[in-house]
Amino acid sequence: MSHAPLKIGVLIGSVRPGRFADKVSRWFLSEIGQRDDMETHVIDLSEPVLADELKLTLEQSDAPTLARRIGGLDGFVVITPEYNHGYPAALKLAVDYVYREWRAKPVGFVSYGGMAGGQRAVEQLRQVFAEMHAVTLRDTVSFHMAWERFDDDGRPHDEDGSAKAAAVLLDQLAWWGLTLREGRALRSYDG
Ligand SMILES: Cc1cc2nc3c(=O)[nH]c(=O)nc-3n(C[C@H](O)[C@H](O)[C@H](O)COP(=O)(O)O)c2cc1C
Repeated sequence: MSHAPLKIGVLIGSVRPGRFADKVSRWFLSEIGQRDDMETHVIDLSEPVLADELKLTLEQSDAPTLARRIGGLDGFVVITPEYNHGYPAALKLAVDYVYREWRAKPVGFVSYGGMAGGQRAVEQLRQVFAEMHAVTLRDTVSFHMAWERFDDDGRPHDEDGSAKAAAVLLDQLAWWGLTLREGRALRSYDG
C-alpha cells in the first residue's frame, strides 16, 4: 500500500555558536533524505524567529510559529547533545511552549556527547515527551566521544554502522508515524 510521505520534523536542540550539532545534523539529514516515505522539515531552534520566541520570559508565549510547525508534522527526530547529564535548555523551552501539537505523535532521538553518547539526555527527554502524550522510539542513534567519530567532511568514520543505526530508527519512526497518523484521522485523541 502506498502512503503520502510522513512529514517528519528534525529538531536541532543545540543553539550554541560553533555547535557540533551541525555535523551530526548534516549527516542525519542526508540519511533521512534518502527515504521516499518521509518528507523532512528542519526545525532549528537557533533560527532567529524561533530563538526569539523561545527567549526566557516570565510570561509564557504562545509560540505560534513553533506550534504551527510542530502541529503540521507527523513525527519527529530530536538531535540532542548532553550538557551536564541533561539536555539543552532550548529544547525544554521548545517542548513546553507547544502543547497539543505533540500529542499522539512519535519522537525518535539522535544523541551525541562524551562517554555516554548523550544517552542521559535522551532518557530525560523520554520522561518529558511522555507527559506530552508523545510516543518515544526504543532505538536511538548515539555518538559517544562524538568529536572523534566524524571526519573533516562530516562523514562518520563508521559509515555503515551509523547508516544501519539510522535505518533502524527511521523504520520504527515510519511504523509509528503511519499508525498514529491513521489513528488520529480515525478518532480524536482525548487522553
Ligand atoms: C555546558 C556543557 C556541559 C557538558 N556536559 C556534558 C556531559 O555531562 N556529558 C557529556 O557526555 N558531554 C558533555 N558535554 C560535551 C558535549 O556533549 C559536547 O561538547 C557536544 O559537542 C555539545 O554539543 P553542541 O556543540 O552541538 O552544543 C558538555 C558540553 C557543554 C558545553
